[in-house]
Amino acid sequence: MSAPAYEKVILRNLQDPGYRGTLAEYRARGGYSGLPKALQLQPQEVIDLVKQSGLRGRGGAGFPTGLKWDFVPKDLALTKYVAINGDEGEPGTFKDRQLLEQEPHPIIEGTVITAYAIGAHVAYIYVRGEFVEGAKVFQRALEEAYAAGFLGKNILGSGFDLDFYMHRGAGAYICGEETGLLESLEGKRGQPRLKPPFPAVKGLFGKPTVVNNVETVSNLPPILVGGPEWYAGIGVPPKNTGTRIFSISGHVERPGNYELPLGLPLRELIFEHAGGIRGGRQLKAVIPGGASSPIFTPAHLDVKMDFDSVAAAGSMAGSGGVVVMDETTCLVRVARVIAHFFAHESCGQCTQCREGTAWLHKMLTRIDEGKGRPEDLEVILDVCDNMKGKTICVLSDAAAMPIESYIKHFRDDFEHHIRGGACPTGMA
Ligand SMILES: Cc1cc2nc3c(=O)[nH]c(=O)nc-3n(C[C@H](O)[C@H](O)[C@H](O)COP(=O)(O)O)c2cc1C
Repeated sequence: MSAPAYEKVILRNLQDPGYRGTLAEYRARGGYSGLPKALQLQPQEVIDLVKQSGLRGRGGAGFPTGLKWDFVPKDLALTKYVAINGDEGEPGTFKDRQLLEQEPHPIIEGTVITAYAIGAHVAYIYVRGEFVEGAKVFQRALEEAYAAGFLGKNILGSGFDLDFYMHRGAGAYICGEETGLLESLEGKRGQPRLKPPFPAVKGLFGKPTVVNNVETVSNLPPILVGGPEWYAGIGVPPKNTGTRIFSISGHVERPGNYELPLGLPLRELIFEHAGGIRGGRQLKAVIPGGASSPIFTPAHLDVKMDFDSVAAAGSMAGSGGVVVMDETTCLVRVARVIAHFFAHESCGQCTQCREGTAWLHKMLTRIDEGKGRPEDLEVILDVCDNMKGKTICVLSDAAAMPIESYIKHFRDDFEHHIRGGACPTGMA
């Protein structure tokens, strides 16, 4: 039985197997027709239109895009910037990579629309260092866009100018946090800044800056072409509109990127689109929105995969990275691996994060190796509690919340390890 089909917004051109995402191919399919529509409007009208569409950021926090733009001061004399976040470091997420490699022009078109709306004349894209192919493709796309008059001076005869530069990261997860990204773009260590002030008011080089994710801005050209009502009609209006790309990985038959309307039940994502659990095994757990998100169990299969429903069910939709685990998975090992990731990626500025992530990793390693102590779980939960809401950025919270959820939902796995010194799943 084939999975239900839905209208695609961002990946529609990629349904054609011969499509390579060049400027000519993108234009042949209607690309760069959203930009002239935006340039005919006043900047504030573009902001209002994006607000009406209900678009929310796809980078992690799900913040309303038009509202973020509206926070930027309207003073025309002020220098402003756009920074596109292509750092994609959240484990389980691999959608921005696909967009950079296969569909770069909507990112460029969406960035010009963003810059026009807020009055910026310089934009940057921060591309994850490991994305060698994506960076190559994107640079070529930038050159094509300049040559065709979509970037540079007097874009499409509108009088609007924009220069767009690519900056490549060097492999630090924290540089995906928007203020860490700005610090890194300025040539400093990627250490997040205290907020407020938020980047929309004081961002890159101290100037108002909009930071938006690659997937977020890829939605803008179709919104301009199709109109905000059309976009708002997809998903769960009014607050969870449009589609998003779910990166589904782990123990499913068909892992991959699936663009689907917001609000489909998790069950449909896993069992219809991703083909169900590999080898007919039983589902044990699901990370619903990247490694930072608290875990779901089979009892959560009917949760609708939109920002608000996932939050109401105790997790977060985050970056759209859905990691599926079957009955052979040991949640102690998962916790250990994830704790290792966050301990490695903590920038070290805040004590609670620097020490907390390292302690979690140390204790979880001990439990995984069969050397856990009876008091360990309570100590872990206490450490987690002390890591939340106390630091400059939310990496610390993102490290603590999943671990708490693993212990809450899979306490047996942990206690079995501590009592028996071995893994109940037999995982080596
Ligand atoms: C530790 C950390 C890492 C993050 N990494 C990314 C990332 O790789 N890509 C991204 O788009 N957003 C990331 N974010 C979210 C950004 O801070 C920011 O919210 C986002 O880029 C805003 O874009 P949006 O409104 O279009 O979602 C991260 C946040 C944190 C706290």
